[in-house]
Amino acid sequence: PGSALIDSFGRRHNNLRVSVTDRCNLRCTYCMPEDVTFQNRSELLTFEEITAFVRVAASLGVDKVRLTGGEPLVRKELHELVRMLSAVPGIKDIGLTTNGILLEEQAGPLFDAGLRRLNVSLDTLDPVRFRTLTRRDGVERVLAGLAAAKRVGFAPIKVNTVAIRGFAEYDVVPLARYCRSHDFELRFIEYMPIGAEEWERDKVFFAQEILDLIGRGIGELVPTDNDPSAPALEYRYRDGGGSVGLIASVSRPFCQSCNRMRLTADGKLRNCLFALDETDVKGLLRSPTNNEQAIAQALRHSVWSKWEGHEINAATFVKPDRTMHAIGG
Ligand code: GTP
Ligand code: 5AD
Ligand code: SF4
Repeated sequence: PGSALIDSFGRRHNNLRVSVTDRCNLRCTYCMPEDVTFQNRSELLTFEEITAFVRVAASLGVDKVRLTGGEPLVRKELHELVRMLSAVPGIKDIGLTTNGILLEEQAGPLFDAGLRRLNVSLDTLDPVRFRTLTRRDGVERVLAGLAAAKRVGFAPIKVNTVAIRGFAEYDVVPLARYCRSHDFELRFIEYMPIGAEEWERDKVFFAQEILDLIGRGIGELVPTDNDPSAPALEYRYRDGGGSVGLIASVSRPFCQSCNRMRLTADGKLRNCLFALDETDVKGLLRSPTNNEQAIAQALRHSVWSKWEGHEINAATFVKPDRTMHAIGG
């Protein structure tokens, strides 16, 4: 260990997304099939194994970790993992991406364990469209979760909305009003071909259309200085009342500044959301010999073999076998 995780295109990787489970208490149509089969629990990395991996990653320059799922809050005592990761030398920033269903009861323990950055997925405020999109009920629980998170002191709180044609037209402005009034940072994500449904470009509701809708319905948005490695393009309301982010993965890919690696719940390294190959680290983590060197080598190898970027927009695009719920977004 020691040398940084730089790939063959010169991108430095300091951002690790860790999926803690592929299970979820919703069934979003754009993310997974209704009749999904989950992994056996014995396949999942333990908190100790995840922490051991993060320790190695941190020694190679990873300083930012984001916990994802499936739905991470269905993993029991997740706040214990947050506590363990907070103690890893070099880890400066721990985030969580959740659907918010279990957030009301867990916001307190997570905050006490040291979590600060929270992203909550919410595609609509309307209970009927919520049910259509997630195949479950629960929008009021998500809203209660967001309120609880704000109460215990999380900041920033971001709300992630997948923008799909046929839905976004109705939901963009109400969500923007809601987030503006509660001081949540709303971010729209262009719909990507990584779920179970047939994806068509025509179903992507593009970033520019969102800007136009909000401009007409609420007020003009103006671009701000962007962190080039952040997926979201940031905009502020000209009147000063908050901001909106646009994750334009389809119309404006941010691969050239990608800084992220992914660890799946079953212990595979993925160097891209759309990667077709994975590198196993569970075997190394479960081997009885001291294998930090081998884990570091696997991580370096995976980073080095990363491609230039996804090919969503190309005819040669190949969809990975895993759908979003088994990768973590
Ligand atoms: P912070 O910037 O740390 O707040 O988080 P984030 O935006 O990296 O994390 P979040 O889980 O909120 O990601 C939002 C969405 O952006 C994901 O669900 C994906 O849809 C998309 N996204 C995240 N990482 C990538 C990536 O590497 N490539 C692409 N194409 N999309 C990504
Ligand atoms: N396209 C874009 N974003 C997606 N997400 C899940 N599936 C897709 C998709 N097909 C988002 C979720 C959540 C994050 C983890 O990934 O809404 O915000
Ligand atoms: Fe990085 Fe792959 Fe996402 Fe592009 S698609 S930003 S290379 S993870």
